[in-house]
Amino acid sequence: MVNNRMLSVSLNLNIRGMAPSATLAINEISRLRASEGREVFKFGLGQSPFPVPDQVVRALQENAFQKDYLPVKGLPELREAVASYLGRSQRLSRDGADVLIGPGSKELMFILQLVYYGELVIPRPSWVSYAPQANIIGRKVTWVPTKRENDWHLMPEDLMRICADDPDRPRIVILNYPSNPTGSTYRTEDLKDLARVARAHKVVLLSDEIYGELHHKGQHVSIARFYPEGTIVSGGLSKWCGAGGWRLGTFSFPSELRWLLDAMAVVASETFTSTSAPIQYAAIRAYEGGDEVGLYLQRCRRMLGVLGRCCSRTLTDAGVDVTRPKGAFYLFLDFGAHADRLGRNGIESGKDLCRVLLEETGVALLPGCDFGGPEEELTARLSYVDFDGARALDAAERLGKEQPLNGEFLRANCPRVLEGVGRIGDWLGGK
Ligand SMILES: Cc1ncc(COP(=O)(O)O)c(C=O)c1O
Repeated sequence: MVNNRMLSVSLNLNIRGMAPSATLAINEISRLRASEGREVFKFGLGQSPFPVPDQVVRALQENAFQKDYLPVKGLPELREAVASYLGRSQRLSRDGADVLIGPGSKELMFILQLVYYGELVIPRPSWVSYAPQANIIGRKVTWVPTKRENDWHLMPEDLMRICADDPDRPRIVILNYPSNPTGSTYRTEDLKDLARVARAHKVVLLSDEIYGELHHKGQHVSIARFYPEGTIVSGGLSKWCGAGGWRLGTFSFPSELRWLLDAMAVVASETFTSTSAPIQYAAIRAYEGGDEVGLYLQRCRRMLGVLGRCCSRTLTDAGVDVTRPKGAFYLFLDFGAHADRLGRNGIESGKDLCRVLLEETGVALLPGCDFGGPEEELTARLSYVDFDGARALDAAERLGKEQPLNGEFLRANCPRVLEGVGRIGDWLGGK
């Protein structure tokens, strides 16, 4: 009787058929394996290896006493700081009133999809949560196919084709770069072309720039420069500030979309109320920037660039097709060239690939299908973050700016990443 009642309750769930977020699930499996004393190379989770900059931690300590609820749209000084950061870094003329603060950009994305009745358009592969959020809300998702030879980028002609089919349909297009899962980014000319299409079809463009500050050369360009009136820039502290667990995300709107910001604030007021007060005060310090934060970022970028290129070379030499890393801490691996050989070993999908690889080598990756790729595609995302970021930053500081971060540096500071990546090559060679 009780079971029957429970069963009927579960059938009424709004999220039938959905599982917990893919990245969190692989983390759980890795943790379980580690708790059994088995080796795990944790390349599944997309978390920054670096500590929060000292200055920002101090700001949080100083503000631990802040206990009041803050305004639903965010602390006015923080909204100003975010706007002026975007002015400095991207020459965007937005002011504090254009900024919405939330408990992580993920939450803000969900609320955006909730309040804006539009179809979601995303390239394949894309970050794991965009489509599930649309599914929870009941929105249509259109996946745009991309190609390896185009670095898995959204092509303007493909976006044009989709928008031209039913041109009056409201749409949210999400562009994410530097990209999770590929680690690649767009050239300025490509952004201009995409912006032209977005403007012609008046789409709401959500530019997910959460990894913008982790462009390995510090040369991130926001597409909002080329389609300011329709672009919402999404960001937050999670990646560039190493503060994923602090849960602070930012949306910056053009004044033309103020009505959307206001609509989102209504939902925010009925759900999360406001973002944690001490975190918002500390975030002001992060967005003000300055020398200490600037140096921290330079070191993080330099390390990620050197390490990403080193991993990419090792894997390429081992016969894996890998995107060239330009930002963030991801590589997208394509084992398609070895499909016959892997197939003879019972590996016929990205999930098979990741399961067998984890079992036989201890390397945890996420299959490409978690990012919307076809099940049978032998692709996977690798996060090269399994190292002690605090130690590595200290070592980079001691070395100074002039000294190269060479193989010796990586072997001393990122040994697990190098070993895990080497194991993928050895495993493939042995198949
Ligand atoms: C591409 C991308 N966008 C958004 C997020 C969400 O970040 P947060 O909710 O921590 O701001 C993540 C986190 O992994 C991400 O990789």
